[in-house]
Amino acid sequence: MSARTVATKPFEGQKPGTSGLRKRVSVFEQENYTENFVQCILNAIPGGAKGSTLVVGGDGRYYSKPAVQKIIRLAAGNGVSKLIIGQNGILSTPASSHLIRLRKATGGILLTASHNPGGPNADFGIKYNVENGGPAPESVTNAIFESTKTISEYSVVDGDDIDLSTIGERSFGELAIEIVDSVADYVEYLSQIFDFNLIRDFLATGFTVRFDALHGVTGPYARALFVERFGLSESAVQNCVPSEDFGGGHPDPNLTYARSLVEAVEKEGISFGAASDGDGDRNMILGKGAFVNPSDSVAIIADWAERAIPYFKGGIHGLARSMPTSGAIDRVAKARGYEVFEVPTGWKFFGNLMDAGRLSICGEESFGTGSDHIREKDGLWAVVAWLSILATANKEKPGTSVADVLQAHYAKYGRNFFSRYDYEEVSSEGAKAMIDQVSTLFTSSEFIGSKHGPFTVKEAGNFSYTDPIDGSVSKNQGLYAVFEDGSRIVFRLSGTGSSGATIRLYVEKYTQDASEYDADVQVGLKTLIDVALQLSDLEKYTGRSAPTVIT
Ligand code: G1P
Ligand code: ZN
Repeated sequence: MSARTVATKPFEGQKPGTSGLRKRVSVFEQENYTENFVQCILNAIPGGAKGSTLVVGGDGRYYSKPAVQKIIRLAAGNGVSKLIIGQNGILSTPASSHLIRLRKATGGILLTASHNPGGPNADFGIKYNVENGGPAPESVTNAIFESTKTISEYSVVDGDDIDLSTIGERSFGELAIEIVDSVADYVEYLSQIFDFNLIRDFLATGFTVRFDALHGVTGPYARALFVERFGLSESAVQNCVPSEDFGGGHPDPNLTYARSLVEAVEKEGISFGAASDGDGDRNMILGKGAFVNPSDSVAIIADWAERAIPYFKGGIHGLARSMPTSGAIDRVAKARGYEVFEVPTGWKFFGNLMDAGRLSICGEESFGTGSDHIREKDGLWAVVAWLSILATANKEKPGTSVADVLQAHYAKYGRNFFSRYDYEEVSSEGAKAMIDQVSTLFTSSEFIGSKHGPFTVKEAGNFSYTDPIDGSVSKNQGLYAVFEDGSRIVFRLSGTGSSGATIRLYVEKYTQDASEYDADVQVGLKTLIDVALQLSDLEKYTGRSAPTVIT
């Protein structure tokens, strides 16, 4: 079996976004499209593809299987030494990150479009993770993109499809292939991080749980955890058989797309509800009558970590959040004396801080929560972290609910009301014109000190980040305006959509008035949202009078 080069031409738009390349399946299905992009990943691997060991797996969405076979042929054609592949091509994103680290691999190719719908008419995605297990930094994604603009050939070795369904070692010419159990290493790792006995004993007291995998990759992981390790019945998990099109749904854990879970928790009076997205890196946490905003979730986990999670017993080395995420975690950092960082949107910006030992726990408002145990956000980790907190809280005070944990947090730190409005698939021109207009306004000197309703602008601009570890600079990461009372609005364009443009508007308001802690978020934020919509002229530019999704 020897390598053969195939002539090809560049495709436009193979630019990795916030989290890899995401396009419609039909785009990836074009002749050479997938091969080109994978070849460009191989070209951009720091240290080269030759002799490397790569982890390969994904959320199992439609087109994953042919993509894995293509990767095998390209890896062989480029002299890769070994591929470690999840059984049937399945690995959750957190499990991939863990496996890269555990096996000291060169990196990994992750086949996922995360929370985007799957199926022949929906999305597919490919992303590259580096040696530390985290998403490739911009230096690498830029190199991939540059390569996609000039590619003229790719190298493959021809051969029969490899059987992905049975665990074990095989080879494809010179290339070694190991098919591994998708779940075992990851669950074993979580058992070292958390006190599984504490959780199991607590759940045995009748604290009821429902986890919804939304037909995504976490089903088998959740069953291994909740049913096999924590001793719960099958009714503790729902939608836990992964499907190539996520049961026709939208595998995004929020109040809109995980509605059936939200309803089940309320109707059946379940104590704790949780969901994860297609590839398992996002999470949503609910209690009866209580939705835990992700910005609060990470702050609460950070506040409890040292006493509730054995992994952090040795101490916390810093916290972080993405820029649009609310400042709730900053207050925990201040009170507990931890360093705290504000980075651009996207998990890749946390990796350097973790590698440098300056970041233990971090999160994004977009239902992403995690720690330095791996280099991706981790949905099930967050769920088990919450169960650890509840188990610990119930030891101290039996009967403590999710709502009680939330209220106790507000009583201690005040409450950051937070909401995000998404305007999905608006016209790219309209979105760009709106952002240009906001950018001109927010960066003009007259804007500072101007009054809008009850709010006076204190600070505004386009967020730019200098990585404290390697000094790299990321500009244009979101337009923000902070008002005198600490309230804040942020506008940015999504970097993960596969067609058109998605505008995200983030609003945040802080209160220390206990009478407001129970207030409805949308009511609490109404005036601020109106100001944001006025300042941006959003409806004029996009024709949208209401957002597609509110979280
Ligand atoms: C979105 C989220 C962001 C997250 C990313 C990947 O990116 O906003 O926080 O890191 O998905 O899950 P966006 O579409 O906003 O660029
Ligand atoms: Zn995801």
